[in-house]
Amino acid sequence: MVIIEDEEAHFKLMERAIVKKLPHASVSHFKHAGACLEKLDEITPDIIITDYLLPGMNGIEFLKALKLKNNQIPVIMITGQGDETIAAYSMKLGAWDYIVKSADFFVLLPSVVEQVLREWGLKESLRKSETRFRVLSRQLMRTQEIERRRLSCDLHDHLAQDLSTLKIGIDTLIDNHTETSVKMKQKVAELSDMAHKTIMEIREMAYFLRPAGLDKLGLVQTVLQYCEDFSAKNNIKVDFFSVGIDELKLDFDTKIAIYRLIQESLNNIKKHADATHAAIRLIASFPNIILRIEDNGKGFNIQKYSDSAINGKHMGLLSMEERVSSLAGKMKIESSIRQGTKILIEIPMETNSD
Ligand SMILES: Nc1ncnc2c1ncn2[C@@H]1O[C@H](COP(=O)(O)OP(=O)(O)OP(=O)(O)O)[C@@H](O)[C@H]1O
Ligand SMILES: [Mg+2]
Repeated sequence: MVIIEDEEAHFKLMERAIVKKLPHASVSHFKHAGACLEKLDEITPDIIITDYLLPGMNGIEFLKALKLKNNQIPVIMITGQGDETIAAYSMKLGAWDYIVKSADFFVLLPSVVEQVLREWGLKESLRKSETRFRVLSRQLMRTQEIERRRLSCDLHDHLAQDLSTLKIGIDTLIDNHTETSVKMKQKVAELSDMAHKTIMEIREMAYFLRPAGLDKLGLVQTVLQYCEDFSAKNNIKVDFFSVGIDELKLDFDTKIAIYRLIQESLNNIKKHADATHAAIRLIASFPNIILRIEDNGKGFNIQKYSDSAINGKHMGLLSMEERVSSLAGKMKIESSIRQGTKILIEIPMETNSD
């Protein structure tokens, strides 16, 4: 740990009090906060205890500098008696705790250090398991997309092709048979029609599994086509508007994630909303990509959905939230009965997809 304290004698007493309770602690001493800041990357302490009143940079300025560096090391601030506003301000700036210099200071110090270290340990292990969970869920989504692509290719390139050959076979089956009965001709036409419908259904399934346009046409054009298609099939007017997205050169993970978010939202509107109108906005607004999906449907009780999602019944919104988190984004749902539903998503443009 690090103690920033300009008075040598005071530092010695603090060190002694801490080592008495935590015999394995190794304590470094700095008289100036600035000097500590410079060395921080080298020594990487688990905790920093700093006096507020220091020559040069004071404790508050030190906290601000740590914040600027995005340094998360827990800090305990030591203030003089009557300095409660400084203590409160320190906590606001991210200090984990504060101790006022009073008669029982050397008794309090080691217990506060111990307590902060325990809380820090818990927070760190939570952060690590959250990171592991994020990595796992991102990997799962990638695997799912790869599997969908494989299925889509199989359906499109093999099954649909074979069925097309079969349809040609059916269509030409009676070509050279002049004496074919009307009933037989009708049957052949029916079979050909059935083959045609099945081919179209398979093509649609293949497209649903893997929107091929994402690579060729870009995200905006693919979403636009999807919206037009959705509108035509479901009698729900979809108003899609986009600015600055194709210029961003997004990686495939982000493009497919945005596409799936829109797909699931529109599916929900079709299945649950009873809406006549939906509006989608997809906008590049530095440093974020903003996606807003609104409908004029019947709305729903968000709390009830959260409870059923936990039971694993409805996975659509939950998997949307997961997708957004895996891109380090944020998602908010606003809905109330008869007031429609609004989904607001923000995804940072610079995402680390690995
Ligand atoms: N746009 C919407 N309008 C009205 N209700 C909605 C809307 N979107 C979601 N809901 C409600 O929220 C619930 C949860 O949606 P979610 O997408 O998580 O699950 P689902 O659509 O029921 O099932 P799944 O998506 O897993 O097939 C839905 O059952 C529905 O009641
Ligand atoms: Mg759903």
